[in-house]
Amino acid sequence: MATGNYQSAIGNWKSAMNLYDRIPNNVNLSEDKKLQRALEKWLPNYLDWWREMGPEGFQEKDVWLRTAIDVGSEGWAHFDYVRMPEYRWGIFLEPPQPDAKVGFGDNYGRPAYQEVPGEFRNALRRIIVTQGDTEPASVEQQRQLGKTCPSLYDLRNLFQVNVEEGRHLWAMVYLLHGYFGRDGRDEADELLERRSGNPDKPRILEAFNQPCDDWLNFFAFTMFTDRDGKYQLSALAESGFEPLARTCQFMLTEEAHHMFVGDTGLGRVARRTAQLMKQGDVRELGGIPLDIVQKYINFWFSYSLDLFGGEISSNSADFFAAGLKGRYKEREQYTEHTAANETFTMAVVEDGQLKSREVPLRNALNEVLRGEYVKDCEKGLARWNKVLADEGVSERLYLPHPRFHRHVGEFAGHAFDLQGNLISREEFERRKSEWLPTMEDREYVRSLMHPVFEPGKIANWIAPPAAGIKGKPFEFEYVRL
Ligand SMILES: [Fe+2]
Ligand SMILES: [Fe+2]
Repeated sequence: MATGNYQSAIGNWKSAMNLYDRIPNNVNLSEDKKLQRALEKWLPNYLDWWREMGPEGFQEKDVWLRTAIDVGSEGWAHFDYVRMPEYRWGIFLEPPQPDAKVGFGDNYGRPAYQEVPGEFRNALRRIIVTQGDTEPASVEQQRQLGKTCPSLYDLRNLFQVNVEEGRHLWAMVYLLHGYFGRDGRDEADELLERRSGNPDKPRILEAFNQPCDDWLNFFAFTMFTDRDGKYQLSALAESGFEPLARTCQFMLTEEAHHMFVGDTGLGRVARRTAQLMKQGDVRELGGIPLDIVQKYINFWFSYSLDLFGGEISSNSADFFAAGLKGRYKEREQYTEHTAANETFTMAVVEDGQLKSREVPLRNALNEVLRGEYVKDCEKGLARWNKVLADEGVSERLYLPHPRFHRHVGEFAGHAFDLQGNLISREEFERRKSEWLPTMEDREYVRSLMHPVFEPGKIANWIAPPAAGIKGKPFEFEYVRL
């Protein structure tokens, strides 16, 4: 019943969008029959993937979710109960800018690309496939979490993130089908064939093959790994390939909620832990000790840093030169948009020592973007530390040095401590149980994960949120079980 209301409410929305279509969109899909047919052929395969790899155990439940129905800053989303397989995954791009120009690189100031430029075709396809692959991967990583949710509020937020990652996959598949012909269709099929953590057909990036099987992992993932997504999407939102830029601009609107879930989730864990610290032994009281929270931060922050790619990268130079991938807030933040004659100084390991090296700026753009990301993460840490201070405990959380525990780039293959000092492999191995979650830590966290399905109730290891969603109270029945 609720789901019927959802469909008619969405259908009745008075808007120029093509919401009656099988695939809601603002790209005039019904006028491009070939593309429409291709996407309608992909749709049942997507739904098969969703049923097989989407959230396990809740597919038939009504969940109070937002659905994108427009791109305006006002009223872009509709909130209602819906069963997840009936969610309306649509294709929404920000409106085109008249006279859009390439905003950076060698073609700076030329008209933006409305079609894929032949000479950049492979690079562009690779960028889109790599981004697209992360979206279903995270749904796969999180598919068991519903069974151990700390509250209905959190359960709903998990599913909100999941369905929107599904929509982000649609956003990338639209580009592959619409602009790349045959090989784009093949890539779109393969996006539904890879599986997170599967040794034979893994997801492309390593952070997306790591298990995310408890809620502390989930909050750290949405805080740190979804935030990498924000920076990748922001760099692509600057793209001279206009359909990609407009797609990413709208994805960022949804992405903000994902980071909110992680940021406030870890803040609520910090609050509860601080409250328990004042009462006695956190473990005995069934909470998550702060040192375990810190280890999860160390783990997910370092894996997420890897997602930016090597510190010195010819790909980053090529993508920038071609006008495909810009810097964070390229138009807003910079006045010089070719980055052709500048240099960037960074630390590298040479002859077993840290040395500084000057590299052409274009080759350092992964590192530049990573720097923006680190600054943003620091704000999250400051918020959590304010919670700890407000609760009257003196302990603090922090970010490890960006060189710590890296598997990609200049620092992969070397060992560093949390302060970024170069240490021996042996010392790292000896001390890593202080720095990264051990099997025992993970088992302890898992032992706390018992579902709380009653509206208004919350698990003991986390504080309730400051407010509910969209004006609803925390006690609202966000999921009807
Ligand atoms: Fe996403
Ligand atoms: Fe996300």
